[in-house]
Amino acid sequence: MPTPPLASGPEGPGALRPLLDTVLHALQDGTRARGGPLPAGGPDAVAAQVRAAVGDVLPDEGHPDALHVLVHTLAAGSADPAHPLCAAHLHCPPLAVATAADLAASALNPSLDSWDQAPAASTLETLVTQALAHEVGAADALVTTGGTESNHLALLLARETHGPRIQLVHATNAHHSLSRAAWLLGLPDPVVLPAPTGTLDPATLDKALTGLRGPLLVAATAGTTDAGLIDPLPDIAARCRAHGARLHIDAAYGGALLFSERHRIKLTGLEAADTVTLDLHKLGWQPIAAGLLTVTDPRDLAALHQRADYLNADDDTEAGLPDLLGRSLRTTRRPDILKIAVTLRTLGRSGLGALVDQVCAHAHDLADLIDTHPALELHDRPTISTVLFRPTNATDDTVAAVRRNLLTDGRAVLGRARLDDRLWLKATLLNPHTTPQDLAALLTLVEGNTPR
Ligand SMILES: Cc1ncc(COP(=O)(O)O)c(C=O)c1O
Repeated sequence: MPTPPLASGPEGPGALRPLLDTVLHALQDGTRARGGPLPAGGPDAVAAQVRAAVGDVLPDEGHPDALHVLVHTLAAGSADPAHPLCAAHLHCPPLAVATAADLAASALNPSLDSWDQAPAASTLETLVTQALAHEVGAADALVTTGGTESNHLALLLARETHGPRIQLVHATNAHHSLSRAAWLLGLPDPVVLPAPTGTLDPATLDKALTGLRGPLLVAATAGTTDAGLIDPLPDIAARCRAHGARLHIDAAYGGALLFSERHRIKLTGLEAADTVTLDLHKLGWQPIAAGLLTVTDPRDLAALHQRADYLNADDDTEAGLPDLLGRSLRTTRRPDILKIAVTLRTLGRSGLGALVDQVCAHAHDLADLIDTHPALELHDRPTISTVLFRPTNATDDTVAAVRRNLLTDGRAVLGRARLDDRLWLKATLLNPHTTPQDLAALLTLVEGNTPR
């Protein structure tokens, strides 16, 4: 076999072009072979298909058709968030333009741990993170792999700023990555407040803060995972201020409402946070990964400072080479900022805002359909783009079985959430191309799969 071509350099684009053609054909054929939002047959059938297609993972001699076969297999076996009946999770269909930009990131392969590996990408990251931080009302922002890493970093910065006894206070509606980060960082056990209405109640928070001693970190949520609810941020911020508690807001889901003139008002109070988690691979239409953590006081970032002679020697830094190592806990780091920058510039605020408005409007349309459907019960009007519903009078076991039947048959991907002590089906609408017919078809499928 001749030495395989490289993706970058003068020959790179020429080598990539026919391979991309192969990839695009395999994507098209694999998606057609699947036919629906996910492969039919459940885990055993899909695993058997993948095993058969892969064969020997590391054969003695390579196969030139591996690219076509594996991409086809993955496409045929994917849960495709671009299919309107794939609406379970905060798992968005990426924009074509963002995905194309991500290809350039892979081809050029800049690594954001030192300027000599990423001269232009490091400046692009500075410009874009500052612009996004200013949207939130913060001073700076770090790029992360998503909500989990952002929440982890937020707790780390709080610990380094206020000491290792800082105690996390959150409600039961918070994402599990927060309590996990507290565990990982060796912080005291978090204080977990009840949230019977699905959001953090300021009066309950106030009472808890009154009874606690020592440095405290309150974590509120703007867009809960289960229901897309937004905690009352201004009121929570006021209570934190009154008690001298630090405030982190996990806006992994809701943060992109900032792009919408109509919906950004729901995020009032975000600017009061010390740190904010954003995640543009949820409501933001980015390929994974596209997380951010905004930081209000840039001095907090001093905790991440790190010196490694091969990456940021003092004399290099003094000579003017930007020191990038303190921008992350990772060392080698992809330029995930490129696809974000391309998306922001291509769509502009109005284009992104329109996408946000569309998916929020779809959620209201779905809620209307459920509300008037005699066999379905709506949990509540949507705040962002999540709609919870269930077949009327069904048991929790039936609700769970409906979801699994649809998954196994490859007909629809719906999520599940437990609220008010009942199990609900969850539709998280993130596809701006979804039509009213798609929404009606989703409900017909649920009704048709509910035993009477
Ligand atoms: C509110 C919230 N925060 C954090 C996360 C974690 O994000 P990621 O999966 O990107 O790590 C999620 C994931 O759904 C989430 O809903």
